[in-house]
Amino acid sequence: MRYHHIPVMLDEVVAYLQPEPGKKFIDCTLGGAGYTLALAKIVGPAGKVVAFDLDSLAIKNAQESLDQQHLTQVELVQANFAVVGREAGERYPNEKFDGVVFDLGLSSAQLDDRTRGFSFVGDLPLDMSFAGSSQATIKLINKAKPAELEKIIKEFGEERYYRSIVKSIVEFRRHQPITTTGQLVEAIARAVPAAYRHDRRLNFATRTFQSLRIATNEELVSLEAALPQALALLKPGGRLVVVSFHSLEDRLVKQFFVREAKDCVCPPQNFICACGHQAELNILTKKPITATAEEIAHNPRSSSAKLRAAEKI
Ligand SMILES: C[S@@+](CC[C@H](N)C(=O)[O-])C[C@H]1O[C@@H](n2cnc3c(N)ncnc32)[C@H](O)[C@@H]1O
Repeated sequence: MRYHHIPVMLDEVVAYLQPEPGKKFIDCTLGGAGYTLALAKIVGPAGKVVAFDLDSLAIKNAQESLDQQHLTQVELVQANFAVVGREAGERYPNEKFDGVVFDLGLSSAQLDDRTRGFSFVGDLPLDMSFAGSSQATIKLINKAKPAELEKIIKEFGEERYYRSIVKSIVEFRRHQPITTTGQLVEAIARAVPAAYRHDRRLNFATRTFQSLRIATNEELVSLEAALPQALALLKPGGRLVVVSFHSLEDRLVKQFFVREAKDCVCPPQNFICACGHQAELNILTKKPITATAEEIAHNPRSSSAKLRAAEKI
């Protein structure tokens, strides 16, 4: 898979967020700042974009672009979007926003960063933390019980050879700890059939690497925590847009939207509503929107993107 420094589904994201001069947005995943810069230019000096990222490098690079382009309407926050409600609330008490956007996963800058261990190309310290300089992945791969690793690689990686891969990891770490990406690739290579190893469509280590990244960063936990906070930050008519790259993420977003679009979420056997839940969202995308063939041709990463959007009632 090749990665480019191009924001995924930018036109669609902007169309759903409906930015206008003076409007206020939260970008939960700054990354290469593609969405943030596009929104900032449209909202202008009377508007605001508050952008979050865990990665100090993303923040630093974005600050340079903002300074160069004299865009003062952007505030960058180095924090986990799992606490977006608190972070935004502290800076803008009682403020409601016109839109909140998430573009999940890894940025191309992180993948290419030679001091991090996201890529299976080369031999780098095994560090898949978005925040960087963390022992979390090394600890996980060397200390987790085989059953836990199997669950991670099967569910987050959707990797069919998860059993033999975990066996191989356990065998490898009996002799020496796995501390680099190269060692992990070697352990995976020993476990999978030759045809899989030589498959040119997808590198044989992709799925295992993805699963360990998702586990290291507790990505699904953060997303689940963030969605209700994002909803609470919206004004009536404000938009929530999520671009995801993994079926588990997309399912989480879909289920959140469906629940928040209903007036009652009592179990079906209840005749009388006891929950008092009231619909807060209108779903704008019945099915997830995917990238156009043209975009996929230019940016292969967009091929697995799914966009869902909803409007606060
Ligand atoms: C796919 S990139 C975003 C790309 C961006 N939309 C653009 O236009 O360039 C995802 C970014 O989200 C960040 N990220 C992922 N999970 C996060 C979390 N829980 N809190 C804060 N940032 C997170 C990553 O560090 C990465 O930089």
